[in-house]
Amino acid sequence: MSEKTLPGYLHPRANGQPKRSTRIFGLFAGAALLSLGSLVSFTLSNNAEHRTTRIPLHAEETVLKCRQLLLPPGPPADFASRTISDRFVDGTKPVHIKNATIWTGGVDGHEVITGDILLDRGLIQGVGQLELSSYSELVEYDAQGAWVTPGLFDLHSHVGVYSLPRLDGAADGNSHNGNVQPWLRSLDGLNTHDTAFEAIIAGGITTGVVLPGSANSVGGQAFVVKYRPTAEKTPSAMLLEPPHSIVNGSYVDPTLPPRWRQMKHACGENPRRVYSQTRMDNIWDLREGYNKARVLKEKQDTYCASALAGEWEGLGEYPDDLQWEAFVDVLRGRVKIHNHCYEAVDLDNMVRLTNEFKFPIAAFHHAHETYLVPDALKRAYGGPPAAAIFATNGRYKREAYRGSEFAPKILADNGIQVVMKSDHPVLNSRYLAFEAQQAHYYGLPANLALASVITTPAKIAGMDHRVAAVKPGYDADVVVWDSHPLALGATPKQVWIDGIPQFETPHSVIKPASSQKSPETPNFEQEAKDAVQYDGLPPLKAATSNSGAVVFTNVSEMIIKKESNIITTFEDAGNNVVIVENGHITCSGSCAIAFSEEYANATFMDLQGGSISPGLTTFGSPLGLQHITQESSTGDGPAPNHLAGKVPGLLGPLPLVAAVDGLLYESRDMLLAYRHGVTTGISAPGGRGLVSGFSVAFSTGAGHKLEDGAVIQNSVAIHVTLSLDSSTSVSTQVAALRHLLLEEAAFEDVRKGLQTIVIHVDSADILATLILLKREVEGKTGTAIKLTVAGAAEAHLLAAELGEAGVGVILMPARSFPVKWEQQRVVLGPPLTAETPIGILRAHNVTVAIGVEEQWGARNTRFEVGWAALSASTELSRTEAIALASTELEELLGLTSPSSDLVVTQKGGLLDFESKVVAIISPTKGVVESF
Ligand SMILES: *[C@@H]1O[C@H](CO)[C@@H](O)[C@H](O)[C@H]1NC(C)=O
Ligand SMILES: *[C@@H]1O[C@H](CO)[C@@H](O)[C@H](O)[C@H]1NC(C)=O
Ligand SMILES: *[C@@H]1O[C@H](CO)[C@@H](O)[C@H](O)[C@H]1NC(C)=O
Ligand SMILES: *[C@@H]1O[C@H](CO)[C@@H](O)[C@H](O)[C@H]1NC(C)=O
Ligand SMILES: *[C@@H]1O[C@H](CO)[C@@H](O)[C@H](O)[C@H]1NC(C)=O
Repeated sequence: MSEKTLPGYLHPRANGQPKRSTRIFGLFAGAALLSLGSLVSFTLSNNAEHRTTRIPLHAEETVLKCRQLLLPPGPPADFASRTISDRFVDGTKPVHIKNATIWTGGVDGHEVITGDILLDRGLIQGVGQLELSSYSELVEYDAQGAWVTPGLFDLHSHVGVYSLPRLDGAADGNSHNGNVQPWLRSLDGLNTHDTAFEAIIAGGITTGVVLPGSANSVGGQAFVVKYRPTAEKTPSAMLLEPPHSIVNGSYVDPTLPPRWRQMKHACGENPRRVYSQTRMDNIWDLREGYNKARVLKEKQDTYCASALAGEWEGLGEYPDDLQWEAFVDVLRGRVKIHNHCYEAVDLDNMVRLTNEFKFPIAAFHHAHETYLVPDALKRAYGGPPAAAIFATNGRYKREAYRGSEFAPKILADNGIQVVMKSDHPVLNSRYLAFEAQQAHYYGLPANLALASVITTPAKIAGMDHRVAAVKPGYDADVVVWDSHPLALGATPKQVWIDGIPQFETPHSVIKPASSQKSPETPNFEQEAKDAVQYDGLPPLKAATSNSGAVVFTNVSEMIIKKESNIITTFEDAGNNVVIVENGHITCSGSCAIAFSEEYANATFMDLQGGSISPGLTTFGSPLGLQHITQESSTGDGPAPNHLAGKVPGLLGPLPLVAAVDGLLYESRDMLLAYRHGVTTGISAPGGRGLVSGFSVAFSTGAGHKLEDGAVIQNSVAIHVTLSLDSSTSVSTQVAALRHLLLEEAAFEDVRKGLQTIVIHVDSADILATLILLKREVEGKTGTAIKLTVAGAAEAHLLAAELGEAGVGVILMPARSFPVKWEQQRVVLGPPLTAETPIGILRAHNVTVAIGVEEQWGARNTRFEVGWAALSASTELSRTEAIALASTELEELLGLTSPSSDLVVTQKGGLLDFESKVVAIISPTKGVVESF
């Protein structure tokens, strides 16, 4: 009740209908006792009670409303003493998680407690050594010492509004009706049937902020939701502490403090999508909107000053406006602004805006240049916004071009709060932990890396009074992990939301002991300094190129390609030495000679237990054909679409383009791939037609096409795409392909089994048609064709048939993410399924490789491979895993003489978070290049 917080105030509903006059009198006496907060100042009149003015009927309500404007947002004062959650589902049994290693979220992310957790009535009721004898119906879960964290919190998601599977008719992320529309609400477009929810929970994410898109300067209000399914099955039932007016649109208890609201803002390039604006228009639109809100707020404050003083004469109605009330709330400090904003120019614009209109920004999102301008952030009204960023997804437009993997570390060093986010479905929210892991790998301390996907985002969204901590009184949202959550491939074994276990029969694989601790990551201090010094564009080419003798000492492992296999030459902690001369290994093992006079002038590199491994190969993205994905003037462009009748006559009947003719070297993504051990790229021409043309294999470390070894193979495979997502029917696509395979001169080598054909296909139904087509063509020609399928989301459904037909599979992405309708029947792996697609295909003797879809991802191939090895449902050794992105991939694409570059890492193997790539050994160039 209200007496506690507002002395002297009589609740209008407390005593039935008392006589109006007495109540009004009592009310004003109370008003004089009010202590006023700093947000609004009213003039109070002490002699209000002696006046004789006509008091409007709604006076009481109005006075309450005016007082409510003074309350700061947040939970009610007694919130921490709740004993049951408002989200508790009747019948949920209490759970006793035994023997857990608990990262609680406390002590700035440093607190770890070993012990038990009790979940009951939707809350965490106890943590540590618990006495539970009074509980009868306790469900026991023995964590066996496993890591437990609070559920992850994704501060930037479009789940439900850019809903999966992606259907053109159902995109609800951005309105085209205006540029500044604070009155729109993502809640109104939230599809509870989005197929992503289940997979997201399987990644340990329990709560997220669902934002409108960024194609408007103000896209609308965002909402915090818990991802578990509800009995009611509605968007409303998913909401976590929505504004009171959302819960009950007709009545808001004016004595309650308001709940935090959330709102999307965007600056820079994206708001052009709807109105084709410049940055100047964009900021003006925001200023115009905020000015409207300011005028309205001032009217309200003036009005309230009079109302609270009892000066009703001529006061009229409380000034309000349904379209602008949310923006007024921004000015009242009641809204968490999530501001999509990338570059220095944009960040500066927004900081100026906050000071002009006096409102805080909770976080800059994407925020690729925040690490370059921390001081500008510190000038923001109300304190520096947090930076909510990606780990390695960058360079896709100018705004992102100077993004850095070292940004999390640099921001943290500057005292800026760091949040790692998914922007789902841009990244799959399921793998939010991977963003934190990478941030940690590139220098963000472990406590802050875990906080960046748990406690920090919850705090930024104003929800840290109830989620994102394993503490008594917090929501019962906890995750049991199969390894340390910052270890590569960490996967939940079970997830509870509101105390409800999310998986009936969760599956898991046993992780190695080395995965049970936080990885000891390399030192990237110098790289981080360079990123700042060079304004985000540090030199990426090798620092030295050495054709003389290089002696690697303390090498603990050497893995090489031998014919088409990957073999381990040695693997022990012994102090092995590898001597390289002119880019060729001349000795490996003890090599005592390395310490003789003969090598007195050699360059010595101490690998500190590091490794030498085969250079990896990337396939699937436009790497080598495009610098900036979203800027067509920076790339080769699309190949003609033969089925859409747009083939220029100049090119003759069936022109097949060759990617080799469009190669562009030294893109930043290419150089980053090289620096991270991906030495070969294989790329097909772009475009979405049936036939894109010939792929090319190239060295990612070359300067231009004429350098030795820059082009590894001119024509690798012919690439064809078959999809439901096409302007031509699938049957037309198949008919055309049949014709090409049987008749077309350009396909003669395919017909003769001399040239590999790679068909990009996801649907199992199209795949089945292709297997039949292959049989049909081979029946007519009597020759086996070399067919590989790429993409292959649903390929596991035909694993036996593919194995029998000798068709290999390039899974792309390596970790299934069903975005389109034709990708829906994926196998999602633990904890949802015991099997993984790689496991199922390999069990049927299908040759499997992995690819990446976007060029920024090429650099992460080493981690994808390591992840595959760690999560395989059936044994996949590290050498077999390396083969997924080298020998198997090269074989499936038809690369006949692959590069024999080797990757040198310090302090660990190529596939883990503890090592750093320090050099590439290139026999072709005859050098060792070091970074
Ligand atoms: C907790 O689990 C670890 C790992 O399985 C085990 O060694 C230890 O004995 C367990 N402790 C208790 C108290 O059960
Ligand atoms: C909204 O509040 C009013 C007044 O307390 C109440 O009568 C009504 O049932 C509430 N509606 C909902 C949907 O909670
Ligand atoms: C090492 O370099 C010195 C000075 O250039 C030269 O005199 C010597 O012959 C070199 N030794 C070897 C083994 O190459
Ligand atoms: C080799 O490196 C490992 C890991 O850094 C280290 O523990 C070991 O002492 C090193 N051995 C020698 C002989 O330097
Ligand atoms: C896979 O190949 C192995 C070895 O050639 C063979 O023993 C096994 O039966 C094959 N499995 C399937 C499912 O064809």
